[in-house]
Amino acid sequence: MKKIFVTKATIPPLNEYVDEISDIWETHWLTNMGSKYKKLQEELKLYLDTDNIELFTNGHMSLELSLQALGLKGEVITTPFTFASTTHAIVRNGLTPVFCDINPDDYTIDVSKIEALITEKTSAILPVHVYGNVCDVEGIERIADKYNLKVIYDACHSFGVKYKGVSTANFGDVSCFSFHATKVFNTIEGGAACFRNKEIGQKLADLKNFGIHGPESVEAVGANAKMNEFCAAMGLCNLRHVDENILLRKEVSEYYRELLKDIPGIKLNIIQNDVVSNYSYFPIFINKDKYGKHRDIICEILSTYGINVRKYFYPITIDFDCYKDWLQADGLDVSRDVSNNVIALPLYPTLAREDVKRICEIIRKNCQF
Ligand SMILES: Cc1ncc(COP(=O)(O)O)c(C=O)c1O
Repeated sequence: MKKIFVTKATIPPLNEYVDEISDIWETHWLTNMGSKYKKLQEELKLYLDTDNIELFTNGHMSLELSLQALGLKGEVITTPFTFASTTHAIVRNGLTPVFCDINPDDYTIDVSKIEALITEKTSAILPVHVYGNVCDVEGIERIADKYNLKVIYDACHSFGVKYKGVSTANFGDVSCFSFHATKVFNTIEGGAACFRNKEIGQKLADLKNFGIHGPESVEAVGANAKMNEFCAAMGLCNLRHVDENILLRKEVSEYYRELLKDIPGIKLNIIQNDVVSNYSYFPIFINKDKYGKHRDIICEILSTYGINVRKYFYPITIDFDCYKDWLQADGLDVSRDVSNNVIALPLYPTLAREDVKRICEIIRKNCQF
């Protein structure tokens, strides 16, 4: 039986990567912000339309160190419908996550519920651009300005996404991206923080290198989170193909939409106004009452056909074993509901039409109405 995985990492032609890394055998410069790092940094400034970017070992460290660089204290308002990393980044900084529900339209933070959660301890908001859907950046900015809060976007899903023509790298104080193997653009493992204020850039540069500021001065308790030259070289190659890959993802997504559009109980991801998407995921939401089977059942059925789907995100982070005994929050009904009923279907640029068709036929034939 042919297996279909939920994703397939994008890699350049082998000779392209070999060409890109070959001068490393002359320079012996493997890490610590060498020429590949610097070149990728410049190219990403152009691609993401930002003046300020630091590259990291992964998206998680870009988030964790951005929170540290901003010198936050107390509470951070965020959502639990996200990957472990978002909540962990807050907690690992000694900060308290305060969970706000998501809205049922695009699964990003429900801006109408943020103000009720603000206390004198709140120092920041950490919203997530889920599946590349863009948060209500204008509403978030209004609240942040009113209460003098920092905003750090988890933009890990939103590489290349634009809202009203503006790259998601340009919202908030910092926007953090993941370049993990499974993402639209990858550096094998990697990440970036794009920031508004240049002082934050110096802090981030220090923090990702143990807090070392100069040859004899260590100014902060930093980590080791520098992107190495081989990862940067992979990024240089993948960046050349990213537009073509986003276009292929778009075509696969459109084919899915066509085949799934009238199945009772299957809700597709919203197409947001004013947003240029990156087609990073293809989530579907199953309404058990209208479809006739629960999400978990259809996941099992798909796996018997060798089709690997993902409950993404499930469970919500507040329900993780490491949090459930000490973090509490009311009113997370939408987050729980979406998390209990979502499936991310396979999506990658080279996913064959016949495979999409097979997946959709299984979903259609299992509908009980
Ligand atoms: C929403 C979200 N936040 C954070 C991360 C962490 O990124 P990374 O895996 O590059 O550390 C990821 C991806 O894995 C993610 O999807």
